[in-house]
Amino acid sequence: MGNYAHVFQGTAFTSKTFEEVGILKDYLFCINEKGMIVKTVSPEEEQYVTLLREYEGKDNFHRLLDGEYILPGFIDLHVHAPQWAQAGTALDLPLYDWLNTYTFPIESKFSDINFAQSVYEDLVQTLLANGTTTALYFASIHKESSLLLAQICARLGQRGLVGKVVMDNPDQCPEYYRDESTEIALKETEEFIIAVQELNEQTKQGVYPVVTPRFIPSCTDEALKGLGVLAAKYNTHIQSHCSESDWQHGYAIERFHKHDAFALNDFGLLQEKAVMAHCNFLADKDAKLFASTGTAVAHCPISNVFFSNGVLPARHLHDLGIEIGLGTDISGGFSPSLFDNVRQAVIAARMLEEGVDTTISADKRGVSSSRITTSEAFYFATAGGGEALSLPVGRIEENYAWDVQIINTTLPSAKLPIFNNDLEDIFQKIMYLARPENIQQVWVQGEKVHER
Ligand code: GUN
Ligand code: FE
Repeated sequence: MGNYAHVFQGTAFTSKTFEEVGILKDYLFCINEKGMIVKTVSPEEEQYVTLLREYEGKDNFHRLLDGEYILPGFIDLHVHAPQWAQAGTALDLPLYDWLNTYTFPIESKFSDINFAQSVYEDLVQTLLANGTTTALYFASIHKESSLLLAQICARLGQRGLVGKVVMDNPDQCPEYYRDESTEIALKETEEFIIAVQELNEQTKQGVYPVVTPRFIPSCTDEALKGLGVLAAKYNTHIQSHCSESDWQHGYAIERFHKHDAFALNDFGLLQEKAVMAHCNFLADKDAKLFASTGTAVAHCPISNVFFSNGVLPARHLHDLGIEIGLGTDISGGFSPSLFDNVRQAVIAARMLEEGVDTTISADKRGVSSSRITTSEAFYFATAGGGEALSLPVGRIEENYAWDVQIINTTLPSAKLPIFNNDLEDIFQKIMYLARPENIQQVWVQGEKVHER
């Protein structure tokens, strides 16, 4: 019956809707050679026993132990790979000064391919160990080391979407960290796209090139326009930063007399496979433009504490029809863990709703109806990320990739306080209390890529 590459038996959690997490108790999951889920079978179904009889005891049959649960792998929609070298430091300055004082200097070092190799290998391994099966990366302006990052993802088994960063505007980018010219920036971007699309041909889980203007301040009009054309020509993903902070939001208004969202759209940079980081200052008309073009938001709730001057109204934007996923924004965000970002997304939304200044009366202090639940934050980290990228990932469902993390709640060194068998409670405890040690195995596209 069937000829599956793997069959798993266990309990999984996966988003059914934005609000609701489905619990697949003691299901069988049948995975084909390509690493896709071809069948999910509940214990009530007739074929359950037949399948069990056929696969039990074989090498490719995996029964989860008591206290182990399957979650979809996380999708990190915003990581600056070179900034891994400074993660956990340099969080004391506002965005503009932070970029010029710490971040451009560290990123400029990625002209050294050996340095890039050591940082990128460590980062991809760390993200996999934290349950991140798909990541959307900004590399640096350097074509060679950006390509190296894609190769490392390909080799270590992560689904990587990688951008060579474009920064060609002499007004905003220092000479030591700037594309040599607009022409060279566009030429190298095109070469990078072609090289990664070739690499993708030999990569089971997929690696994808991403057109990556750093953000409007970093780029000339000619570069922004040229990048829009390249994205359309090669049908690539697009990423940038949009209306992150008071300063960034104000910059576009000054230069273009319009909001970031409309300026990006003028250059052909908003589309179905575009993901814009932060977006804290989107007006409703910007949000509607995002929704109508299919552009997604990468919500980076830890980073936003340090650089955004506010809290993303995630529920409001979701209600306006925008696809939202979560991003670590390493190193604006210090943590490589999307568990940490799920928690901060819930906390930040709750603080937005309640307000923070206790000298203001309670009825005026916050923004009502802003809170999100753990299930909704989990949706952002999984299914929402998959929708944002237009890839079949982020759900445990037929015709999705077998990208999962297996959580062991019983480890002696990191035991979760589970004293009843209510699976809804167990899901919430995993969301709030799981640590990297609890992530026992990680699979991408039907291949085991991490085990501890
Ligand atoms: N805006 C432009 N570049 C960056 C960056 O590296 N991090 C963040 N958080 N915002 C940016
Ligand atoms: Fe960023």
